[in-house]
Amino acid sequence: MGARPLLNRRLASMGTTIFAEMSALATATGSINLGQGFPDTDGPAEVREAAVRALREGRGNQYPPGPGVPELRQAIAEHQQRFHGLTYDPDTEVLVTAGATEAIAAALLALLEPGDEVIAFEPFYDSYAACIAMAGAVRRPLTLRAPDFRPDLDELRALITPRTRLLLINTPHNPTGLVLTPDELAGIARLAVEHDLLVVTDEVYEHLVFSGGHHPLAALPGMFERTVAISSAGKTFSFTGWKVGWVTAAPELVAAVRTAKQYLTYVSAGPFQYAVAEALRLPDEYFASFRADLRRKRDLLADGLTAAGFRVFNPQGTYFITTDITPLGEKDGLEFCRALPERCGVVAIPNVVFYDNTEAGRSLVRFTFCKQDSVLEEAVARLGRL
Ligand SMILES: Cc1ncc(COP(=O)(O)O)c(C=O)c1O
Repeated sequence: MGARPLLNRRLASMGTTIFAEMSALATATGSINLGQGFPDTDGPAEVREAAVRALREGRGNQYPPGPGVPELRQAIAEHQQRFHGLTYDPDTEVLVTAGATEAIAAALLALLEPGDEVIAFEPFYDSYAACIAMAGAVRRPLTLRAPDFRPDLDELRALITPRTRLLLINTPHNPTGLVLTPDELAGIARLAVEHDLLVVTDEVYEHLVFSGGHHPLAALPGMFERTVAISSAGKTFSFTGWKVGWVTAAPELVAAVRTAKQYLTYVSAGPFQYAVAEALRLPDEYFASFRADLRRKRDLLADGLTAAGFRVFNPQGTYFITTDITPLGEKDGLEFCRALPERCGVVAIPNVVFYDNTEAGRSLVRFTFCKQDSVLEEAVARLGRL
């Protein structure tokens, strides 16, 4: 094929995702996988049964409507009202996607011109850099720094240039566990309005905030018309394999994202959409006990990691804990994570791969706690032998 590389220049630096590398290492070494964020127990049985029923009854077995089945769009609108007081029209302001991943891709591909600048917190969720690159846009990181990972809004202001088109905001934030406060959100909103920026918010951990609650940016003055809010059923209902996500936004924004989405997947898994509609209508107790359960697991893992000698940055949200390995006499998170399965049979993720400014993340390592207590206890016992 000649000298020209097969993979195009926009994706040349992307390589294999760290999750594939580390999950393969977990399998090869029989290690406990606290790397990739997927639960080891499925979500509510009644939601799973709703999917089976939809399959049997032939609902969604053929192409569902492009924007998503009406039952799910209605349930998403009700959920936004019930939990966030936000009113969306299910027909024009809601779009169902193949997970949040497709929503992020479709939003960025729809809204960006080549050369536009996108400001996002780093460490980034790994699909952000790839999607910004696929759109031909340029990423500008706002570095979140240990120990508290709070964004510096003066630094954010300084990053905005005439080419800035979009802010990509993730709260609760993976991997740091940062949850933006109402004041920080108000500061970000003021900058977005002042500079007339679009905002894409990734809120997939909206139901995993351990104190203070989740506050959507779209609710703030001047934000509804410029914000594409994204969430997903995967994390909230522990069905990460179903890949049902959604966008809520003003009609013009939804129409733009839908244009890109229809040529990516056209539609996503039909029967699961009916099941997720039922999941979103679960009583408040489901959401409260899901959160309480994960809070307990967070404490279990945080205590174990502290006892094992890690410096633990306690997360306010998500199901990840970021740690610093410096107190263990280690400096390099990537080397540490590659060796960890052999050393003690545990897999973790090196945060450095989510940074452009790699110095800020070199010694940071992420563990997930969305696993059964016995698995977390065994992982902690193994890490204690380090
Ligand atoms: C911040 C963030 N956004 C998006 C996703 C992907 O969501 P989905 O599985 O719904 O595509 C994840 C999954 O880990 C995530 O952590």
